[in-house]
Amino acid sequence: MIKKINRWLSMALVNNLSFKGFFEPLIQLLFSGWNATGYRAKVVKIREETHDVFSLALKVSKRWKGFKAGQHIEISFRQNGANVSRIFSISSPPYLHKKQRLIELTIRIQSNGRITPWLPNALKIGEFVNISASKGDFVIKNTTKPLLLIAGGSGITPFRSMIAQLMNMHHSSNIKLLYYGNKADFLFADEFNSLKEKHKNLSISFVQSNISGRICLDHLQKYCANFNHRDVYICGPSNMIKGTEQLLLENNVDIENIYFEYFGPAPIKKLDVETKGIVQFSQSLKNFATLPGMPKTLLEIAESLNLKPITGCRMGICHQCICEKKQGVVYNTLTKVFSDTGNEDIQLCVSLPVGDVNINL
Ligand code: FES
Repeated sequence: MIKKINRWLSMALVNNLSFKGFFEPLIQLLFSGWNATGYRAKVVKIREETHDVFSLALKVSKRWKGFKAGQHIEISFRQNGANVSRIFSISSPPYLHKKQRLIELTIRIQSNGRITPWLPNALKIGEFVNISASKGDFVIKNTTKPLLLIAGGSGITPFRSMIAQLMNMHHSSNIKLLYYGNKADFLFADEFNSLKEKHKNLSISFVQSNISGRICLDHLQKYCANFNHRDVYICGPSNMIKGTEQLLLENNVDIENIYFEYFGPAPIKKLDVETKGIVQFSQSLKNFATLPGMPKTLLEIAESLNLKPITGCRMGICHQCICEKKQGVVYNTLTKVFSDTGNEDIQLCVSLPVGDVNINL
């Protein structure tokens, strides 16, 4: 009710759905990058890590509340006049933020992406960007147990934060990092090696998957023989996580002791329901026939038809892809809930059409 009154009042007085939306551009004339819902952060350094990975160091505003090692943030900036945002893990440790208000995001350039190839040249030192509060549950749950951290590729970034923080806290139990990478370009290898030298309870194995193959029981036994007595944290591409989780479960690791975070969208499971139907995009007058056994999100379907809905994280976190469903049932792959048949807002990036669906796009 209060929301409705607010909306009505701001429409009546400033012809905008919210006062915030009206005043934000005016305040930004004085304080560039000011944001009513997020936090300002100043770009202080852009550091090349490898030919396709860079780290972005940000000095965050005093209002920003901090983070736990392993969490991520949403960062927003303007690209060609439009607001865009992406989610990235924080790769630096919380103690750095506490001491200097600095955080680092380590970003791999996706050659076909719209944002990451543009970002390192577009951002300028001294410029302000907007960031969200820290989010995410991929944090160390019980610091007294020995840990096995398994990283695949860019999935190393939250572990860099966790390990640096644990070492800074003089964490005493044993930590094993098993880091899989293609070729030999392991991120932060020098930094990890120097931490390993200083802390006897930390050991690290860099595994080149193009030579040694993917994670398997032999690897676990070779690099971390007591793996099934540890809490295991996994971060990497979705197929690597699924395979590793399965391997651990088959080898007596309790599901309660396995924690993971997908680096990218979570895999879509096969649905036990009819996915055959017609997706109609009513504004653009485009249709798509879905086939059983080949689940595609509404975002994938829209983009395959060259539609350009607003997107951000593409994994159900930022809510930027919300769109009106006029009719039909969709399945939300995050909440595992089927929608009703009527009109409602849905997230395109995590919604699968179930039968005929009409989308206002
Ligand atoms: S793009 Fe972020 S929730 Fe869909």
